[in-house]
Amino acid sequence: MPKITYIEHNGTAHTVDVPEGLTVMEGAVNNNIPGIDADCGGACACSTCHVYVDPDWVAKLPERDDMETDMLDFAYEPDAERSRLTCQIKVTADLTGWWSRCRRSRFEGKPDHSGRSAPRGREMTRPVVGVTAFLHRVDGSFDAQICGNRTPEAVGEVADCLPLILPGQPTTSETGELLELLDGLVLTGARPNVHPEYYGVTETEAHGPFDRGRDRVTLPLVRAMIDAGKPVFGICRGIQEMNVAFGGTLHPEIRDEPGRMNHRMPKGETDPEIIFRKRHLVSFRDGGAFHALIGDTCTVTNSLHGQAVWQPGSRVIVEGRAEDDTIEAISIADARSFALGVQWHAEFEAAADPVGQALFTAFGDAARKAKANHGN
Ligand code: FES
Repeated sequence: MPKITYIEHNGTAHTVDVPEGLTVMEGAVNNNIPGIDADCGGACACSTCHVYVDPDWVAKLPERDDMETDMLDFAYEPDAERSRLTCQIKVTADLTGWWSRCRRSRFEGKPDHSGRSAPRGREMTRPVVGVTAFLHRVDGSFDAQICGNRTPEAVGEVADCLPLILPGQPTTSETGELLELLDGLVLTGARPNVHPEYYGVTETEAHGPFDRGRDRVTLPLVRAMIDAGKPVFGICRGIQEMNVAFGGTLHPEIRDEPGRMNHRMPKGETDPEIIFRKRHLVSFRDGGAFHALIGDTCTVTNSLHGQAVWQPGSRVIVEGRAEDDTIEAISIADARSFALGVQWHAEFEAAADPVGQALFTAFGDAARKAKANHGN
C-alpha cells in the first residue's frame, strides 16, 4: 500500500498507509493529520486541504486543473510552484514515498483582504460575532434596532469574523441560545445609557436616555460569554456595560467632576472626520493588557461620551486613563479569552489605525480560538 508522509507546519512528520483510490486529503483526514481540515469534504470549495509539496515531487504529480488553481487563491500563503489541494490528488502506487508539508493552521493566519468573495466553505468557517444594536425611534414614530456600519465592518474586515447584529430584545434573544451561537461579542457604542438600577442608583434625568431591552440582553450575556471563555470587546457604551456587568458604577456626566474634560461629541457637528477626530491621550498600565497588545504605554484617542466608568467592578482592572483621570480602558481579571473594553471608538477606521487594528485582530484571533475550543 502506498506510504505518504505529511509534515505538520511545526515539523512533526506522520507517515501513513493510504489505500490507492482515496485522495491524499482522505488519507490525511482518516489518519487525523493536523493542518488538513478539508471543511468542504473534497468539493474543491474551501482550500483547507492545502499543502506545500516537496520540490522533488512537484513534477511527479498530476497537473492542477483550473478549479484547483482558482481555489488555491483562497489558501493561506499559497506558493505558485509547490501549493496543492490534496483533495484533488488521487493516491496511486507511484505516490509511495511522497511527502508534503501541511499548511499552517488557519488560527495562525492573517485575515485575507483580497477583496474577492469568499468561497462557500470559507464563509462557513468564520467565527460568528454578535454586534449589539440599540433602540432608536425613527422619525419620532416607530422603533428600530440600529447599529452603525463601522463596527460590523471592523469585525468582518479586520477581525475576519462574521458579524451578526443582535437586537436588544430580551423576549427574542435568550442568553443561553446566544451563548451557544456566538464565538465572540462586540458591545457597540449607543446613544442610550445603562439604566442606573443595575448599579444601585436611583434614576435621574441626567442618567437617561435608556434602552432597557439592550441592558437585559447584554448584561447577562457579557458575564456568560466571559465565564464560557469566549471573547468580549466593549466599545464606548460597551466598556460601561462590562463594568456594570461586574458590579461597577457609572458617572452620569463626567465633565461635571472637578478637573475633568468635556468628552462629549462636538455640538452640531455632522462630519464624522471631525466628530471622531483624535482629541486626547490615554495612558496604559505599565505591563498591562493594552501595553502588551499595542506595545506602547499611551495612545491618542477619540472618545465621545457623557457617562463614564466610575467605580470599577469586582473583576474590572483599570488598564488606561485619559489625562483627566477618566477611565478609558479596562480588562476583566481571570478571563480565559480576550475581555477588553475601551471608552474610545476603536471601530472608526480600524483597518488603518494601528491601535484599532491590533484590538480587532486580537479579538478575531480569540474568536477563532473560541470557535475551535467550543466546536461550533
Ligand atoms: S477539501 Fe476543500 S478544497 Fe480540498
